[in-house]
Amino acid sequence: MSKMLISGGNGFLGSYLCEKALDNDFEVTVVDNLSTSKERQVPKEATFVKKPIEKFNTNTRFDFVIHLAARPSPEDYIKNPLSTIDSNDIGTRNMLEIARKSGATFMYTSTSEVYGDPKILPIPETYFGYVNPNGIRSCYDESKRFSEALIKAYERQYGLDVRIQRPFNVYGPRIREDGFYGRVIPRFIDQALRNKSITVHGDGKQTRSFLYVSDWVDATWKFLMNNRAKGKVLNIGNYREISILELAELIINKTSSRSKIVHLQSREEDPKRRAADITQVRKILKWEPKISLDRGLEYTINWLKEKKNL
Ligand SMILES: NC(=O)c1ccc[n+]([C@@H]2O[C@H](COP(=O)([O-])OP(=O)(O)OC[C@H]3O[C@@H](n4cnc5c(N)ncnc54)[C@H](O)[C@@H]3O)[C@@H](O)[C@H]2O)c1
Repeated sequence: MSKMLISGGNGFLGSYLCEKALDNDFEVTVVDNLSTSKERQVPKEATFVKKPIEKFNTNTRFDFVIHLAARPSPEDYIKNPLSTIDSNDIGTRNMLEIARKSGATFMYTSTSEVYGDPKILPIPETYFGYVNPNGIRSCYDESKRFSEALIKAYERQYGLDVRIQRPFNVYGPRIREDGFYGRVIPRFIDQALRNKSITVHGDGKQTRSFLYVSDWVDATWKFLMNNRAKGKVLNIGNYREISILELAELIINKTSSRSKIVHLQSREEDPKRRAADITQVRKILKWEPKISLDRGLEYTINWLKEKKNL
């Protein structure tokens, strides 16, 4: 039986990856300190270790080591800059060492944030980014960039099989929706279902491209299992670019809400546009996003309605 170690496996994306690995008869171990995920989401068939990834030691040899542990929500990481950095320097180094000793395939979930406020769109993997190295967001985006450098150093020095993905705004059921952890889609849906004001930062003309979670799982699995993907850095996202204002209107419409849009102060260093160039992932993995934003929003609305009894 193949063994997979997943850091951050209790989180939104990690919990789906655990299920996928278990469905494929993998033995799964999750290490998660529950810093950004609240309730346990790791399936009971997986081994769960509650620990910061920086402090995890093991003698087990794994076939796959997947490093997802991070604090990805801006409101949260801005309040916790040092532990945000730790998961991407000490944490990444620790996971790389486990992979090296095991001779495992190593995968890292970097982020589209490594591109900062991009000057070319849609953004190809070859774009080096436009990032403030010491700005308010640097604890997240610069430490993700550092992780990528560390991972490539392990590949160059030890010949480790490494794969780096850069997800662009993934959403769907299980995404954390409460308080300041809430990302834009679950926050707008929650506000719309309660007929409360939809809070848009700035003028709402900033754009993002959103990917439904089942498409992310599909791409990630293909990326892990395809040997042509060894050493690659791939954007995992959707080509559809939508403004935050359009997104708010779409959600109001889909929930038949009486909510009105209100504008809050712009977020500091909020990227103005974000759209994924997915030429590479399409070519190498023969992968294509299948779930449209309309359908994905409907699934997410139904999930939140049920979860919150709205
Ligand atoms: N969801 C997205 O749209 C998106 C986009 C780009 C990149 N990513 C990356 O994908 C990964 C997973 O994101 P997610 O959306 O599932 O977030 P999430 O917050 O739901 O999951 C992250 C998990 O990591 C755990 N964690 C955080 N720091 C840890 C540490 N030091 N030690 C052990 N566990 C720790 C948290 O408790 C949580 O369970 C992250 O690396 C994130 O940066 C996600």
